[in-house]
Amino acid sequence: MSIIVKTEKEIEAMRRGGQELARIMGEIEKKIVPGENTHEIDKLARELVFEIEGIAVFEGYGDRDNPYPGAVCTSINSEIVHGIPSKDRVLKSGDIVKIDIGMKYEGMITDMSRTFPCGKIAPNAYKLLKVTKESLEQGISKIKAGAKLSEYSIAVDGYVRSHGFSAVRELVGHGVGRELHEDPQIPNFKSNEKDIILKEGMTLALEPMINEGTRYIKLMEDGWTYVTKDGKLSAHFEDTVVVTRNGCEILTR
Ligand code: MF3
Ligand code: CO
Repeated sequence: MSIIVKTEKEIEAMRRGGQELARIMGEIEKKIVPGENTHEIDKLARELVFEIEGIAVFEGYGDRDNPYPGAVCTSINSEIVHGIPSKDRVLKSGDIVKIDIGMKYEGMITDMSRTFPCGKIAPNAYKLLKVTKESLEQGISKIKAGAKLSEYSIAVDGYVRSHGFSAVRELVGHGVGRELHEDPQIPNFKSNEKDIILKEGMTLALEPMINEGTRYIKLMEDGWTYVTKDGKLSAHFEDTVVVTRNGCEILTR
């Protein structure tokens, strides 16, 4: 394993890219309304990224025989992550909609995801969104130079457990910057892997995937979409951060 510490110049590019990505996410949020389909959302994201000469890095990612077809991932309700945009997927009131975008800008990548409510959602869905977002905050509060990565993982897992939810284990966060997926892997639970000491200038994509019911997951036939095994809801929030001496700077807000 080799973790790349970024230069100040690289971090500056990620700072600008992250801000643009956050702005794009804000534009996409306006399209999370009943009657909209996820193909239209993907199209808007593609246009907004193109407009600023960015590159949507998810498109074409993966094995050559089944590359990811969208610019963004659009995952609804029990879909955890990597849902494929489609004209046939029409949003309805009560849905929770996960939008995930990775963008290369000035040569550097930032990665971000949000879970949005569509119309009026049920109290249990609202609670899942709130706790998942808060679990990311709990985790982020542990990130600083000299800290152990496991402090992040334990904070996220402990927080969601205390609210009766469960963290997905098969999918994890990751280093990000020159590539979409760099070392280290960043579990949202206490893993048995060797721990890592964080250093200033590491750039990380932190992304708890939190299920309302069981933590277990299933891969759909499209080879991309992960869903909860029990069919209950799942939420996902992701930010790209840079580790600093006293904490971290969130680049995607
Ligand atoms: N944000 C996700 C991740 O970091 C999505 C990448 S999968 C892709 O793993 F195929 F859509 F690129
Ligand atoms: Co990611």
